[in-house]
Amino acid sequence: SPTRLGRRELAITVKAVEGGKVSQHLVAHAKPGDLFRLDAAFGDFHMPAAAPVLLLAAGSGITPMRSLLRDACQRPLAAPVDLFYWERSAAAFQFRDELQALAAANPNLRVHLLTTREGEVPAARINSHALAVVGDDTPLAQRHVLACGPDGFVAAARTRLAQQVAGFQAEAFTPPAALSDADSLGEVALTLARSGRRLIVPRGRSLLESLEAQGIAPKHGCRMGICNSCTCERVSGTTRHLRTGDTQSETAVPVRICVSAPTTDLTLDL
Ligand code: FES
Repeated sequence: SPTRLGRRELAITVKAVEGGKVSQHLVAHAKPGDLFRLDAAFGDFHMPAAAPVLLLAAGSGITPMRSLLRDACQRPLAAPVDLFYWERSAAAFQFRDELQALAAANPNLRVHLLTTREGEVPAARINSHALAVVGDDTPLAQRHVLACGPDGFVAAARTRLAQQVAGFQAEAFTPPAALSDADSLGEVALTLARSGRRLIVPRGRSLLESLEAQGIAPKHGCRMGICNSCTCERVSGTTRHLRTGDTQSETAVPVRICVSAPTTDLTLDL
C-alpha cells in the first residue's frame, strides 16, 4: 500500500509471507541503497470527500486504510470517519500509535480497535458487530463503507452492508472461495481463441484455477483480483465475479480470470 510521504518518497508495508520470495527478501535482507523497480500503483479504493465514512479492516486489510487516512488527514475531515479494525490480539495491531495520533488530531476521526481472541469478552465479528458509535447520530445508511481483509471478512461485510449503505467498496487479500450455489453447478465449454483449444470447465470455480487444473499456466500475479495481471479479452460468453456475484458479458470489459467463473460457454483471447 504505497503512501506519498514527500516529493520523492514512498512507504510500503510488507508482511513476510511464509514461503514468499519477495516478501521474505524485503523483510529479512533489503537494506538502504538497494534499488527496486515498482509498477504503477493499482486498486479501486478511494475515500469519498465530505461524506460520512466507515472503514472496516481485518488483519492486513489495515494497510490501505492507513494510506487513505494519512492522505485524508492532511486536511480537516469534513465528515465523520470511523475505523473499525479487527485483529486476533492486541499485539497484532499495526500502526496503532499512528492511527491513534491521527484520531487525536482530527475530531472527526475515531479509531476502534477490536480483538477477537483476547479479553474477557471477545469483540463481535463483522457480521454481528453493532458498528454504532457512541455520541454519533450518522445513520449507517448514510455511510460510505470501505472494507478490506480476508475473503471471508469482505464477503461478510458485503452481505451485511452493501445494499444498506450509501456506497460500498471492498478489496480482499485472499483468493476468492469457489461458488456452491445453484447457479454454479455444472460445466461449460471454454474456448481459448489463440490456440483454438476447447476445454470443459466447472461453472463454480475461477477460470484461472480451472485452466491450471488442465495444465495451462496463464499469466497471473495476486490471484485475488487486485493486480490486473491475469486480465484477458472476452470474445464471447458470460462470466460471474466470484466475490460480488455480478455477471458480465460485454466484450469491451476484460476478464480478470482469477476472480471470474464462467456462467455460459465462453471464448477468451488466450
Ligand atoms: S488480478 Fe491479480 S492475478 Fe488476477
